[in-house]
Amino acid sequence: MLSQRILKINPSITVDLTDKLERLQRVGVDIIKLNIGEPDFETPQNIIDAAKKALDNGYTRYTAVSGSLDLREAICRKLIKDNNLKYTHDEIIVTTGAKQALVNTLMTLCNQGDEVILITPCWVSYIEMIKLSEAVPVIVELDSNQDFKLDIDKIKKVITKRTKAILINTPNNPTGAVYKRDELNELGKLAVNNNFYIISDEIYEKLVYDGAKHHSIASLSDEIKQRTITVNGFSKTYAMTGWRLGYAAGNKKIIRAMNNLQGHMTSGANSIAQKAAIEALLGSQDQVSMMVEEYQKRRMYLLNRLNNIDGLDCNDTKGAFYLMPNISKFYGKTLRGRYIKDSMGFADFLLEEAQVAVVPGIAFHAPNTIRIAYCNSLENIKKGIDKIERILNENTNI
Ligand SMILES: Cc1ncc(COP(=O)(O)O)c(C=O)c1O
Repeated sequence: MLSQRILKINPSITVDLTDKLERLQRVGVDIIKLNIGEPDFETPQNIIDAAKKALDNGYTRYTAVSGSLDLREAICRKLIKDNNLKYTHDEIIVTTGAKQALVNTLMTLCNQGDEVILITPCWVSYIEMIKLSEAVPVIVELDSNQDFKLDIDKIKKVITKRTKAILINTPNNPTGAVYKRDELNELGKLAVNNNFYIISDEIYEKLVYDGAKHHSIASLSDEIKQRTITVNGFSKTYAMTGWRLGYAAGNKKIIRAMNNLQGHMTSGANSIAQKAAIEALLGSQDQVSMMVEEYQKRRMYLLNRLNNIDGLDCNDTKGAFYLMPNISKFYGKTLRGRYIKDSMGFADFLLEEAQVAVVPGIAFHAPNTIRIAYCNSLENIKKGIDKIERILNENTNI
């Protein structure tokens, strides 16, 4: 009865986890949620005020499918200032979240059977988005022993005549890795020489720490820019997850085609959110700096605590708001009478025995890990890690 297309799509493990949490909370269990990839901060007041003003001024009608001209121009200003990327307003599409920008891009570029290279560990939705576009995901697994460095040689090995695109995400969810300029440059050249596109998800671009620098791959040369669709959004940097606003920048022909698709699916994004987004981009960035400082404090604290727990081993990755400790030393052990077989078993163990929620690495194609999000208060992170430490220290034979 259901389409083949939808039957191929797997439900998200993170959504299943949310259901499990709700059931536990309903029976009164107090859970520390270090699983959620959503800023705990409120949207900055100047952005909220801009939305209120938009409503009071009756800015409540359809906008252009590709987004209001004012917002697209603000995005062009931002791209030149922050990313050294020169685009005109007709090379930008505003979307309902970065999610829609990604789906639009894949749907616009891919034919059935095309291959899209996917770097893992990766965000849960990418594989399913690629499958939705009827392309085939081709996985390249990065090595945690090398700080999840972008491995160009591994990528070279999977390029075929059917390779249509590569999907990258820097700073990275779930690893926190920030790709280096020379790695991106090599990848860009590979795409140019082998004639495939780069879809670059840069939604965590502002969340970098310890002097790490984000580089937009499209800024590295004109040839690379021609082959790149840069995706970004407002959810993470401006704590605007519920406003559902993102965008893509790229070659005019591709953006026009995405516009055509979006025109028949959802039309322009929410008009009020678009007005607020102009303020986000052009107004004061003080709140963003405050949030980044706070995330850095939490990151340092969490990293230090994780690496002081016997059996855990965590990379010092410098971006987004996630850390991804390796937990495989616990596999095959029995903790509180439970045999720990894999990351799912380990995450269940933490949830049920320590009341701390984390995401099993298997959700991100990283089976030896868990993902811990530090977009939660330092107080909650402390409580959570205390509980994790206590329960793991019960096992003395690691
Ligand atoms: C890597 C990555 N890309 C895109 C998104 C989606 O962002 P948006 O809320 O703008 O749709 C997320 C959200 O978790 C993400 O982690």
